[in-house]
Amino acid sequence: MKISVLGATGAMGGYVIKAALQEGYAIMSKVSSKDNIATLFDETEVIIDFSCPMATESMLRYVLDKGTDIPLVIGTTGLSKMHIDLMRQCASMIPVFTAPNMSFLIALMNMTVYAMAKMLDEDFDVEILDVHHKFKKDAPSGTARMLGKTIAKSRGRKFDDVANFVRLGIIEQRRRGEIGFSVQRCSNVIGTHEVSFMGEFENIKLIHEAHSKEIFAKGAVSAAKWIIKQPKGFYSMNDYVKDLIAPMVKALYKDFFMRK
Ligand SMILES: NC(=O)c1ccc[n+]([C@@H]2O[C@H](COP(=O)([O-])OP(=O)(O)OC[C@H]3O[C@@H](n4cnc5c(N)ncnc54)[C@H](OP(=O)(O)O)[C@@H]3O)[C@@H](O)[C@H]2O)c1
Repeated sequence: MKISVLGATGAMGGYVIKAALQEGYAIMSKVSSKDNIATLFDETEVIIDFSCPMATESMLRYVLDKGTDIPLVIGTTGLSKMHIDLMRQCASMIPVFTAPNMSFLIALMNMTVYAMAKMLDEDFDVEILDVHHKFKKDAPSGTARMLGKTIAKSRGRKFDDVANFVRLGIIEQRRRGEIGFSVQRCSNVIGTHEVSFMGEFENIKLIHEAHSKEIFAKGAVSAAKWIIKQPKGFYSMNDYVKDLIAPMVKALYKDFFMRK
């Protein structure tokens, strides 16, 4: 597979190049802030982007202007509704895959919180904690938002109606169904996400801790291998893991509830 990398001089870009070369793939172009975005599209089969929202926007606008046919894997976070709209427009022409977290375990956690939110009613208060290194530019993390959106969706609520990002000074009593976010930015933490369902008499917490950024790069390279075989469309981690996980979950529940 031939891969071009946007954000190639960055921490993630470096890991993507390493992971791709380990798999025997070719790196066609390495693009950063000093390069022309057009070079990304030279003789490649797929583009992997871990850069910043401005660079992602340039890439998407280039696709729309020039009508290119190269699939995109977008890992950049901190994207706005405008970026999502641009991605959707591109996805009407080419396959576009985006995930605020390319880790398979986070995909598993996302599915699990969906199930838990379905089984626990809104008597259980949900709090999401996002811990990252001190240089991270966006807050809360894209992953924390994704987990919150999953819970809101599972409960049939609009995310914007239930998300609470700010608690400062004199605040109002917690609303039923509210999803609270807390953020810590410290030291060199790669990324920790904690989702708590807090009941009156008992709590349950799910915690994911990333030990190396390499997991995200490896996930992106696997997603690239998958996306080049997909038709045009807008894809998320759920689409990618669905085929893998759905039969496992079916079998798990069959075994779990089976009387021996
Ligand atoms: N989805 C996931 O699983 C996941 C995991 C980890 C990180 N991320 C996200 O990935 C992104 C990159 O993270 P990182 O830690 O690698 O950041 P980083 O080390 O700061 O690297 C940023 C990269 O973007 C490039 N860049 C900045 N402005 C640009 C522009 N205008 N045009 C082209 N390139 C530009 C930089 O190039 P220069 O060196 O020339 O400035 C650099 O190569 C962030 O949004 C982060 O949140 C996502």
